[in-house]
Amino acid sequence: MTPDQPSVNLQPTLRDYESRARAMLSVDRSAYFFGGAADERTLEANQQAFSKLVLLPRALRDVRGGSAGQVLLGQPMPHPILVAPVAYQRLVHPDGEIAMAIGAGAQDTAMVLSAQSSIDAAEIRAAGDTCNWFQLYWGPSRDANLALVSRMADLGFTAIVLTVDAPVQGVRDRETRTGFRLPPDIAAVNLAGMPDPQFAPLAPTESILFDRIAHITPQWTDVEWLCRNSPLPVILKGIVHPADARKAIEAGGSAIIVSNHGGRVLDTMPASISLLPAVARAVDGAVPVLMDGGIRRGTDVLKALALGATAVLAGRLAIAGLTVAGAAGVSHVLKLLRDEFEIAMMLTGCATLKDITPDILYRNE
Ligand SMILES: Cc1cc2nc3c(=O)[nH]c(=O)nc-3n(C[C@H](O)[C@H](O)[C@H](O)COP(=O)(O)O)c2cc1C
Repeated sequence: MTPDQPSVNLQPTLRDYESRARAMLSVDRSAYFFGGAADERTLEANQQAFSKLVLLPRALRDVRGGSAGQVLLGQPMPHPILVAPVAYQRLVHPDGEIAMAIGAGAQDTAMVLSAQSSIDAAEIRAAGDTCNWFQLYWGPSRDANLALVSRMADLGFTAIVLTVDAPVQGVRDRETRTGFRLPPDIAAVNLAGMPDPQFAPLAPTESILFDRIAHITPQWTDVEWLCRNSPLPVILKGIVHPADARKAIEAGGSAIIVSNHGGRVLDTMPASISLLPAVARAVDGAVPVLMDGGIRRGTDVLKALALGATAVLAGRLAIAGLTVAGAAGVSHVLKLLRDEFEIAMMLTGCATLKDITPDILYRNE
């Protein structure tokens, strides 16, 4: 029996959530939420790279008075685990993003609302104060982007997460094979009214990407402009190169999220955790460096912090909780993850987040 196949229907452990969620979803929705780009090498690598990192605990350290808390961008957080932006959550649960926000709030953490949320941001904010970062995909009109950001600021969001790693969608073979399509009642409702580029018919010699899309994809000048004009701090999600990390800070970014989009965009990129140390070195403490991709265990959170992350975001794990049991499932998953993380802190002799250094990683030398 593998840990993914519990013999009785008792309370799920962290490992059980994803398999239960997959079993509950139709094959095409399961492909959308749990699949990745192309051959899914990066999707696999994200978790495998965590498994390859092993821990070297220290004994008998004094951890009295310890805590997993910190202040992140002015917001006190009792633990360093946030919920990553994930599109169209009503596909897995009727209460979608509202249930996700309530579940995150129950564990005192922030949820990043996807630009492609299937519920209006005002409704989600009305359900609680915890969905407070808004994720933005750059649209073709600067003014429309800024109007959307300003609407989110008025609703009480406290930061904008600008995703820079997906100017076009990746090659998603699993979705193609299973025929995934959005049903007519699920849409990116917060983007209603945003200008849609009108494409004239394509000549046979033209490339849809280079001739029609390339000129509306964002550039560093757009990021600088947004950082200058946004009423909210801008966090750049999807930075993986140390030189880009430095540019992000120069452009006015308030934080960076090292991410390969959970292996959904460019396949055969390295695992996020492998990309983190060089970015953290380049940033050198100037801004918080968060990471996501492959977080499935509390020990993964510990390893990410050991390699320079200030905090992590969970994507599919939170989605699994939402699928299985709505807000209660999200809350339970986050609670299990936090508990596992705190156990791992104690077992490696780390009383605070500052004590989590590369020394806790075993090097076979
Ligand atoms: C189904 C799905 C939809 C996603 N939608 C978005 C999105 O709308 N915006 C975004 O910035 N990232 C999106 N992501 C990427 C996540 O924010 C995050 O980077 C990724 O899920 C982290 O990897 P993990 O799932 O292994 O935790 C999505 C991920 C998944 C699985």
